[in-house]
Amino acid sequence: MPNGSHNNENAASAVTRHFRAPGRINIIGEHTDYNDGFVLPTNTALYTTVSAVGRADYCISATSEALRDRGKFRLGNNKLSTMPQWLTYIAGVAAELEKEGVPLTGAALDIDGDLPIGGGLSSSASLELATARAFMALAGVDLDIDTLATVCQLAEIHHAGVNCGIMDQYSVAGGKPGAAMLLDCRSLETKFVALPDTLSMVVTDSGVKHQHPESGYNDRAAECMKAVSLLQQANSGVRALRDVNTDQLDAEKSRLGNVLYRRARHVVSENTRTLAAYSALAEGDVIALGALVRASHDSLRDDYDVSCKSIEMLIELTAGCDGVIGSRMVGGGFGGCVLSIVEKKATESVVKRIRTDYGNIIGCEPWVHVVSAAGAAGEFEPE
Ligand code: GLA
Repeated sequence: MPNGSHNNENAASAVTRHFRAPGRINIIGEHTDYNDGFVLPTNTALYTTVSAVGRADYCISATSEALRDRGKFRLGNNKLSTMPQWLTYIAGVAAELEKEGVPLTGAALDIDGDLPIGGGLSSSASLELATARAFMALAGVDLDIDTLATVCQLAEIHHAGVNCGIMDQYSVAGGKPGAAMLLDCRSLETKFVALPDTLSMVVTDSGVKHQHPESGYNDRAAECMKAVSLLQQANSGVRALRDVNTDQLDAEKSRLGNVLYRRARHVVSENTRTLAAYSALAEGDVIALGALVRASHDSLRDDYDVSCKSIEMLIELTAGCDGVIGSRMVGGGFGGCVLSIVEKKATESVVKRIRTDYGNIIGCEPWVHVVSAAGAAGEFEPE
């Protein structure tokens, strides 16, 4: 239940308030969150911004500057299927906050930002959290991070049709500047580790966009559930792939069949790599970190089948750059971005080389960004 006093007078106030939520970059731990596993994300200072002003009625109106679109819905309206996809995220957040007991009032939202949409940097969670922060502030209510992240995850599952895990929403809701967050997606326990000064993280957009409701994302989640139900025939204690180790998996290979075995092997091995990457960061072992990042990508490509041609070109290109210690795809896959862990002193030359070489491949200037490890979503004062 929400903390704080309700202040409905705020909602109809003509004062515009500003909220923003960062993008999430996952260092490692991909497709593990909806399997109750471990993830190691950080945030970056690319934001979705929401300027919000109260409306006296019970309606939410929203304008998306990036999509040049606008829409409106009445709070309490469940007919979300008639809305454009971007608006379902907002309507979903409103519906889930109301279920949580937050007394929402009308608002006019102006949405903008510099995060690539559908690029694997969690543009949807960023929109959800910026909107949730706006709705909560206008209602004069605060929620703890676990509840807030869960509300936004449910908005995506119930209203946008993506059976996602909680990584993106948790990272965007609870990240800390300069640090990576090890999140146990079952218990929601977190441990933070500082990112070393000697490394930088370079993110390149492949230019291949995905829409997770239509991509293979939900299929992968369903395959994992199927693997769990088969593994339960041998061991009723298995609740999720988190509960299985490699030996148990190998023993059940014929029960699972080749495809489900490979899907499960990715998740089981990725959990191990994620915990090892946290230790490598804590110990400043950048060589070990690089090897884990590369192995994560190989597993996503070969066992989980979520890479694509453009991503592979970027992986190959960055592997040939001096100073890159490891690269991998980030996010759900089927396109999106590649993260490269780079020796800080080589950052400029790596960025230049990607711009030139990938630019030649795609025939236009690629989007390349150096991650700044930003903090969590919240209210801000524009300059
Ligand atoms: C998307 C989902 C996350 C997570 C990643 C893959 O970003 O929103 O919950 O499953 O894909 O790791």
